[in-house]
Amino acid sequence: MSRNYFMAGNWKMYMTIDEAKELASSLKNILKDVDSSEVETAVCPPFIDIPAVTEILKGSEIKVGAQNMYPKQDGAFTGEISPLMIRNAGCKYVIIGHSERRQYFGETDASVNEKVKCALEYDLCPIMCVGETLEQREKGVTNDVVKEQATGGLKDIPKEKMKNITIAYEPVWAIGTGKVATPAQAQEVHAFIRGLLAELYDENTAAAVRIQYGGSVKPDNVKELMSMEDIDGALVGGASLKADSFEAIVKFGK
Ligand code: 13P
Repeated sequence: MSRNYFMAGNWKMYMTIDEAKELASSLKNILKDVDSSEVETAVCPPFIDIPAVTEILKGSEIKVGAQNMYPKQDGAFTGEISPLMIRNAGCKYVIIGHSERRQYFGETDASVNEKVKCALEYDLCPIMCVGETLEQREKGVTNDVVKEQATGGLKDIPKEKMKNITIAYEPVWAIGTGKVATPAQAQEVHAFIRGLLAELYDENTAAAVRIQYGGSVKPDNVKELMSMEDIDGALVGGASLKADSFEAIVKFGK
């Protein structure tokens, strides 16, 4: 394994505090032998679980991320959470622009861009999500959609910051549906994104950005996906909610 893969669990709106503590403790135990220079791991719990999860994961290699943030340090923004708070709670990562946020909470490429820039200012590493709907794939505009989302989300981000960014390609039709993209379908879009990064920045920068695949990743399909040249990890929803299935994914299905 020559690459530093990155496997992250997006817990979405699952896990009460007690459940989160139990899952984090199990993961700490079963992933303790994973070499983070080969496979980096992270979990992204709901905000309210983050302090308990970071406390439990202290002394382990598993990183913690948030699932969203509001792009201001503080202020009168009822119901929102700032990057400073996320950082202070012990998070390294923050997922930005997940398709569920675009679909249900009106996020746009412009708001994603604002959040990515703000996250970087607070030393958080954004996991920026892009991906087409089924309708867009069927119309043959997947690359156009992904290009617009990636270019819009990365607007004004300087080259030096790109090493802190992960891009997650998550085709909307594969999320929570059990319908995984074939390794070839995923690789095609990953290679396209890599090429786009080379155009926007340069080859070296493009090679250093980790591009995760997300959408129905499971223990039995992870190995093939990870064997593709431009797939550098996974953003896992459903299968990250059980310790044994996330372990199997981190260990490439073993
Ligand atoms: P599933 O793995 O449940 O399809 O979810 C993928 C996802 O949206 C991760 O962010």
